[in-house]
Amino acid sequence: MLVINGPNLGRLGAREPGIYGTTTYAGLADACRTLGKELGLDVEVRQSDAESDLVHWLHEAADLGLPVVLNPAAFTHYSYAVRDAVAQRTAPLIEVHLSNPHAREEFRHRSVVSPVASGTIAGLGIDSYRLALSQLAAQLHADSAR
Ligand code: DQA
Repeated sequence: MLVINGPNLGRLGAREPGIYGTTTYAGLADACRTLGKELGLDVEVRQSDAESDLVHWLHEAADLGLPVVLNPAAFTHYSYAVRDAVAQRTAPLIEVHLSNPHAREEFRHRSVVSPVASGTIAGLGIDSYRLALSQLAAQLHADSAR
């Protein structure tokens, strides 16, 4: 499973800590990998500031049938390229946000990704990622028991 992070998320810890918290990007990646291990998941965590990287990683996930946890960061609000790549998904994809975009500036209220995601979890800090991973693990478990 892939955890994909968009622009500026590599600066977590230093970036507006009052909004995004003090955990660094390395800490976030560790938390995802640690929970992944506990859940028996193979979790790979990636981050890029480049839209094309996100699009290519989403293509890779679609081709391999990999579930995805995606924080598209600012691309959430305006990238039709990311949205179109998410629409090609062949497995569940959960959109996550550390902050609650609906409680912030108006330009953050709209997500072009949400309509093509399986679900969205926002406003819970790193727990947004933890809940998404737990949910994907539960779905994989249910699918394999079928
Ligand atoms: C974010 C929210 C976005 O509006 C913002 O552009 C980000 C981070 C979040 O995780 O809260 O970069 O996706």
